[in-house]
Amino acid sequence: MYSEEKKSKSYGSIFVYCFFCFVLIVEVARFAKPYINVQNLIETEAVVEEGFMAVGNSGNLPCGLSKPSSASVRAHDQQKLSQAVTSDTRSRPPNSYCVKFQSFATMAKQLKENGGKYESRPFSVGGYNWTFLIYPVIYIPTDSGAYVSVYVRIDNSTLITNPKDVYAEITFLAYKSSLDKYQINQETEAQRFHLFKQQWGLLQFLPIYYFENSGYGYSFDGDSVVFGVDINIVKPFENWEVFSNEQNIRDPIFEWRLTKYSTRFLDSYTSDPFSSGGRSWSLKVYPNGVGNATGNSLSLYLLSDQSTDKGYLEAKLQITDQIQSNHFVKKVAAWPNATENGWGFDRFMSFSDLRNASKGYLVNDTLKFQVQILSFSKTDYYSHKSSVALPISNGDST
Ligand SMILES: *[C@@H]1O[C@H](CO)[C@@H](O)[C@H](O)[C@H]1NC(C)=O
Ligand SMILES: *[C@@H]1O[C@H](CO)[C@@H](O)[C@H](O)[C@H]1NC(C)=O
Ligand SMILES: *[C@@H]1O[C@H](CO)[C@@H](O)[C@H](O)[C@H]1NC(C)=O
Ligand SMILES: *[C@@H]1O[C@H](CO)[C@@H](O)[C@H](O)[C@H]1NC(C)=O
Ligand SMILES: *[C@@H]1O[C@H](CO)[C@@H](O)[C@H](O)[C@H]1NC(C)=O
Ligand SMILES: *[C@@H]1O[C@H](CO)[C@@H](O)[C@H](O)[C@H]1NC(C)=O
Repeated sequence: MYSEEKKSKSYGSIFVYCFFCFVLIVEVARFAKPYINVQNLIETEAVVEEGFMAVGNSGNLPCGLSKPSSASVRAHDQQKLSQAVTSDTRSRPPNSYCVKFQSFATMAKQLKENGGKYESRPFSVGGYNWTFLIYPVIYIPTDSGAYVSVYVRIDNSTLITNPKDVYAEITFLAYKSSLDKYQINQETEAQRFHLFKQQWGLLQFLPIYYFENSGYGYSFDGDSVVFGVDINIVKPFENWEVFSNEQNIRDPIFEWRLTKYSTRFLDSYTSDPFSSGGRSWSLKVYPNGVGNATGNSLSLYLLSDQSTDKGYLEAKLQITDQIQSNHFVKKVAAWPNATENGWGFDRFMSFSDLRNASKGYLVNDTLKFQVQILSFSKTDYYSHKSSVALPISNGDST
């Protein structure tokens, strides 16, 4: 008996609970409907306020909420977002400028009589003055709803005296107090501003009801809202380099004689510098070999007098056959592969070939080398502070 009584009591409370849920859902549905015009907007606002008062006064709300930021409003919010706006949130505040409206509704009403546009004071970014423009109520005829539109305008006084393209990445933000984050709406491409295009923005930044209804999380402390903007000036490069290949080499051939070969006791001998293709070079020979070639082969290299030169080179290295013109040639086509030795070969020529008298390489104790430079890469570095490009170094030595 006792338990039955309790049951009927709990049926009663379930009924009451359901009734409140129903009331809440109806109110939310009315309240979240997009506005058709300003007249409607104000009326709806009034109704909404009354509606929530009524619910608030009628006693306990489910989930202990005293504000209309219930779960069902959130769900609606997210649905709308995923359909209409591709956007994101972030914690970092706007990096260029912020405008807070103490009361969104009051501002919207006041601006209606003043062309509908709020204009911030100028602020400086990247050497230019900018203005942040906010249109709180813009009707989109094709989209039965009203939006907040946001723009930035570049001050044209600098552009008039110095016509120039200014590229800037623009991000618009609205503070979402429910998350303590900023809703961001971003165009990935940098925008080009110039004398004939001084303004850019988003016509459909966010639906107006996001800011009129605290349930969407944007208004706080009554109906304060915050809009912000990032302006990141994208400057074009001022320094660059050009990598190219020099092919029609001036004075490509150099010859060098190493006399008294049998009495050469130093590790290596280097020729006098010679000029080829406008650069200075030299040949270096290790009569007794270097590295793995020590004791079995002669090592031969071409050096650039610029120790920093790490370019690609094509050259023919030769030991001249002084009897039959049956020269011994190896071609280098490589980046420098022996750090201190430039381009060349450890095992250029084996001693058995070198000393074979019938081959004509070593005659009268003299070796004759020849190098023919076919091409080399070069890198020119440029810098411009004005619009005139000047090479600051082209890799030539004097
Ligand atoms: C930006 O505005 C300030 C104040 O209006 C002015 O003094 C300054 O010269 C302006 N700067 C540029 C680059 O236009
Ligand atoms: C410069 O900007 C002002 C304010 O936006 C505008 O009234 C004026 O027409 C602009 N001048 C030029 C040459 O674009
Ligand atoms: C010598 O030869 C060994 C094995 O062939 C090789 O690993 C090494 O890099 C060579 N050293 C030089 C200086 O070329
Ligand atoms: C340098 O590169 C050439 C190929 O161009 C190669 O034959 C030679 O063995 C390399 N020399 C060294 C010391 O690695
Ligand atoms: C010297 O070279 C010739 C051909 O140029 C060859 O026939 C001969 O065997 C070589 N001699 C030695 C000792 O390698
Ligand atoms: C080698 O030396 C002799 C005498 O010194 C000379 O007659 C001859 O021409 C020289 N040979 C070469 C290839 O220079």
